[in-house]
Amino acid sequence: VIDIRKLYAETGFFTYDPGFTSTGSCQSELTYIDGDVGILRHRGYAIDDLAENSDFLEVCHLLLYGELPNATQKAQFENDITMHTMVHEQMRNFYNGFRRDAHPMAIMCGVVGAMSAFYHDSTDINDPQQRLISAYRLIAKMPTIAAMAYKYSIGQPFRYPNNKLGFAENFLQMMFGNPCEEYEVNPVLAKAMDRILILHADHEQNASTSTVRLAGSSGANPFACIAAGIASLWGPAHGGANEAVLVMLNEIGDVKNIPEFVAKAKDKNDPFRLMGFGHRVYKNYDPRAKVMQETCHEVLKELNIKDPLLDVAQELERIAREDEYFIEKKLYPNVDFYSGIIFKAMGIPVSMFTVLFAVARTVGWIAQWKEMIEDPSQKIGRPRQLFTGVAERPFVPVDKR
Ligand code: ACO
Repeated sequence: VIDIRKLYAETGFFTYDPGFTSTGSCQSELTYIDGDVGILRHRGYAIDDLAENSDFLEVCHLLLYGELPNATQKAQFENDITMHTMVHEQMRNFYNGFRRDAHPMAIMCGVVGAMSAFYHDSTDINDPQQRLISAYRLIAKMPTIAAMAYKYSIGQPFRYPNNKLGFAENFLQMMFGNPCEEYEVNPVLAKAMDRILILHADHEQNASTSTVRLAGSSGANPFACIAAGIASLWGPAHGGANEAVLVMLNEIGDVKNIPEFVAKAKDKNDPFRLMGFGHRVYKNYDPRAKVMQETCHEVLKELNIKDPLLDVAQELERIAREDEYFIEKKLYPNVDFYSGIIFKAMGIPVSMFTVLFAVARTVGWIAQWKEMIEDPSQKIGRPRQLFTGVAERPFVPVDKR
């Protein structure tokens, strides 16, 4: 590791690294990835261990505070988060400004950004207590805001959070219940949703997290920073990939069409890529994809669904794993490859897939933001550039051009 700051001060040397493929932008204690062997750990705990044995709010506590909570801390933390699940009643009006067919990610960018107007009391980033309150507000309200975006899009009334329920259960009842009748959440689906939230909770310096840190490095308030992260997540090369995977699997339609799509993905004159394959850091199986695949089987079994898209996905994975191109480029299924099939089975519309990712990743974003604010070595993010334009020329009056 070279300290470029020092080298730059002494010699003027700087690096040119588009896409930041080999540039560390910060120090962090949250998440460790070894992409060559497929390891992902939060604060030392392996992701599959957490997915198997923990729950989402415990993982939130782990990311924010550095430790899994003991029983008392767990109860306190659950209570603290639960206290913040409601959104300001005036925020309901905000939704009415959107067209019904607005993409829910567009609504999320707007509404989460607007939280800084509704909760400006907690935007003092220099007060550690206010930083925590902002974190709690964001983690707690994201499912409510997301479910409201969905309800708005289908023209149904909003359903309030039920604070007797667990985090994932509450989210599902706000999504699928209606205000006039009891709604019982299937515990297998609640467990699966909780696990999916854990799998997406943090992933070190990906595009959206780096966006949150970069926005936050100027001292911007946390709600504005998370809105910036949501905007970055939306792209199909990042969080939007789960949506793109389902579109692609539908397009493939049948296992017999797979070779044609694999050939397209390998053709350098064709921009098509196999969605849900490849990762900037993982050059081995994404450990989250394994858990996601198991969860997919559990959910389909519970709902007694036989989805032909799962056959297409599994066969695609099998063919790609034996293909020279994918082996040589180390392209394996990533976390997005199976999540779409699970969401579809649960009745979640495709446009909400990336929203679910944002709900889960909020804890990672805000924990990273908090860590950055509390790091005395952190400066405003200000990348350099390699200038390739015209160096200098005299101004030419309009009649002479
Ligand atoms: N299908 C076919 N070829 C691929 C794919 C793919 N999915 N992904 C990468 N490649 C090829 C590229 O064409 C390139 O080939 P080349 O060396 O001959 O030019 C090589 O593999 C390296 O690809 P890069 O784009 O340089 O790798 P990078 O690290 O920049 O991209 C990314 C990673 C964006 C994830 C890429 O693999 C991709 O586009 N995958 C599909 C989208 C996707 O699933 N995104 C979700 C990522 S996970 C997440 O955000 C949660």
